[in-house]
Amino acid sequence: MADRITLSVIKADVGGCVGHAGVHQALVEKAAGMLKDAVGRGLLVDQCATAVGDDLELIMTHRKGPDNADIHGLAWETFKRCADLAREMKLYGAGQDLLTDAFSGNVKGMGPGVAEMEFIERASEPVIVFMADKTEPGAWNLPLYKMFCDPFNTAGLVIDPKMHAGFRLEVHDLIEHKRITFSTPEEMYDLLVFIGAPGRFCIKAVYTKATGDIAAVSTTERLNLMAGRYVGKDDPVLIVRCQSGLPAVGEVLEPFATPHLVAGWMRGSHHGPLMPVSIRHATPTRFDGPPRVVALGFQLNGGKLVGPQDFFADPAFDRARQIANELASYLRGLGPFEPHRLPLDEMEYTTMPDVKKRLEDRFEKV
Ligand code: 13P
Ligand code: 13P
Ligand code: MG
Ligand code: MG
Repeated sequence: MADRITLSVIKADVGGCVGHAGVHQALVEKAAGMLKDAVGRGLLVDQCATAVGDDLELIMTHRKGPDNADIHGLAWETFKRCADLAREMKLYGAGQDLLTDAFSGNVKGMGPGVAEMEFIERASEPVIVFMADKTEPGAWNLPLYKMFCDPFNTAGLVIDPKMHAGFRLEVHDLIEHKRITFSTPEEMYDLLVFIGAPGRFCIKAVYTKATGDIAAVSTTERLNLMAGRYVGKDDPVLIVRCQSGLPAVGEVLEPFATPHLVAGWMRGSHHGPLMPVSIRHATPTRFDGPPRVVALGFQLNGGKLVGPQDFFADPAFDRARQIANELASYLRGLGPFEPHRLPLDEMEYTTMPDVKKRLEDRFEKV
């Protein structure tokens, strides 16, 4: 089918149960009901409403393209109604990620995270939706680099003639609001200078070199920068298309077999390992963590979401979980010291300004 299809994943924390651990089933059901209605009306082709940690995740397919006011309006309305329910149920932090009341046609900048890609569905179209809780958009930099640029991870870069030319990676500077595109493998070292600082530079999208087709897209919203105060971390989402000239499903999952350290965890102010888990285990507990990532796989069929395959339910990721738990214990031992605690400029529940002000008079020049 030559029609273009859009895969939109829009997410928000509209209230946690219990605390910041999970989303109450009543909210997931409410969201699923609203999305099913939209399928009935013909606005959506298909939908999957789910939760990872305390984040409500709306996975939607449609034919309206990215940044569409009807699709964003549906997501916004769904989050608002779920937030109302969360308030009624006295769930924790009800409406947490909804920064404003005035919807103006696009949820960007209003709190929710958005990852959308439009493409012509291939003869077979495997996609993976990664969803993380208790971390930030930069968490995808290392795994995306491994998937699309590292031959030690992705054998296809060496042995698949369709991948051998490499990819283009679009990187966003979230502080200065600029973007730049790097071509790999030839600009790998330049790319790494920037994406090695994931609190500021994030891989927004990946494109094939030959056709310019989209291969991956991530959420890059930074809530606290938008709100100017602590309102939770910007628990991110990533969509990756797989196979036939793109990394194979197993190459896309492979980076998560070795948990890397990400910013987030307790109060959005600590480094911790990103633990791959199944949907069933996507409820952060210990020190509100450790940060988690879920991978749901779908085959698209005329825009229908065939699946999901809950990839990290596989015991092949048991070892990663074990390593993540070891790392978590080690880092916890550092308590309030860096590098467990984030550096000052990254801390979001910080008492520093108040303490500094109170002790101002006692600081002497040395
Ligand atoms: P594709 O070229 O179909 O992506 O095959 C690669 C593969 O699946 C090897 O694991
Ligand atoms: P969330 O960003 O997932 O709401 O978590 C906030 C928090 O402070 C966890 O300790
Ligand atoms: Mg929360
Ligand atoms: Mg969250």
